[in-house]
Amino acid sequence: MIYFDNAATTWPKPPEVLEAIARSFTDYGANPGRGAYKMAMDTSRLIYKTRETIASFFGISDCRNIVFTRNTTESVNLAIKGILRPGDHVLYSSLEHNAVWRPINALRKKGVSCDSFKVSATGKIDLDDLKTKIRANTKLIVCIHGSNVLGCILDIAAIGAIAKEHNICFLVDAAQTAGALPIYPEKMGIDLLAFPGHKGLYGPMGIGGLYVREGLPLATLQEGGTGSNSLEPEQPEMMPDRLESGTVNTPGIAGLGAGIEFLNAIGLEEILCHEQMLTKYLYEKLSQIPNVILYGPEGDEKRLPVVSFNIVGKDSNEVGWALGQDYDISVRAGYHCAPLAHKTMGTLEQGAVRISFGIYNQPWEVEKCVAAIQKLAK
Ligand code: ALA
Repeated sequence: MIYFDNAATTWPKPPEVLEAIARSFTDYGANPGRGAYKMAMDTSRLIYKTRETIASFFGISDCRNIVFTRNTTESVNLAIKGILRPGDHVLYSSLEHNAVWRPINALRKKGVSCDSFKVSATGKIDLDDLKTKIRANTKLIVCIHGSNVLGCILDIAAIGAIAKEHNICFLVDAAQTAGALPIYPEKMGIDLLAFPGHKGLYGPMGIGGLYVREGLPLATLQEGGTGSNSLEPEQPEMMPDRLESGTVNTPGIAGLGAGIEFLNAIGLEEILCHEQMLTKYLYEKLSQIPNVILYGPEGDEKRLPVVSFNIVGKDSNEVGWALGQDYDISVRAGYHCAPLAHKTMGTLEQGAVRISFGIYNQPWEVEKCVAAIQKLAK
């Protein structure tokens, strides 16, 4: 099987990650922070060490400001609902995933107002549009770092500077870029960074994280089960306990830590270079096939290892299905949970077929895929 759905989740996972997950059951199987015996302490140390690994990866000075969640969607919900109150206003980009769009829509029914600012299908942010939409009650700006459909990369540091100037909180959805591009929230004016464990960081599904800028008061979505301050009726103020209720996902955290160490050993630059070589090759080949429409940045422009396309007159799901059934090539077709991005690229009716690369993909796989698309487009 050729696996080209790495934007949904990377596969396969590195052997080091699988090993770390297995050891989380054999050597770190006690509940962390809940016991003073050896295995509970060892497990706590493993959790702390992973928090430090993540902090150092993102250049974050205090690892206690990283909260473990189940996934980016949970992180984004925690951030948006932790910041916004009735009467507040929020701005979000025209490329957002529904993990951002839906919680904002849910809050609209509770008295939060919102506007979206324009970003083109190549990732160019209309900063003037953003600035004119800022109001006195704008409390939060939310922006995706890289589109999961178009593959375009957004200049989030430029938004970070505007947010800082207006004293507005800035949340970045790094679902597609954590592990793919360097991200330094403290240098880029990012107050909240939501990231998944199972995509570019090569950890398992079911683990993600949220970085919260030091001292930023975030309301809780859940209370209790912290293992600390057990006698108190209130949720503790200290981080990460304040936002991390219940027993954490030790296998997920162990796997995520091993995934980041795997990336560090190879180097982000090297990985990006390999994936961009595949992306450029695919884009060039597909652009030569009549009846194939490509979306997002042009061939030479910088993009994530994500290429979306359509075949004229064919439904995207039909093409995705045929690639899977007839050629054993796994891609994702349809709307990719991102209707706003599809609206921006003009594919709300047809959807699109998405090919996305990971570290283990090879040029011969791209050749096979191009040959299959050539046949389907005839
Ligand atoms: N949002 C993920 C994707 O793009 C799951 O496929």
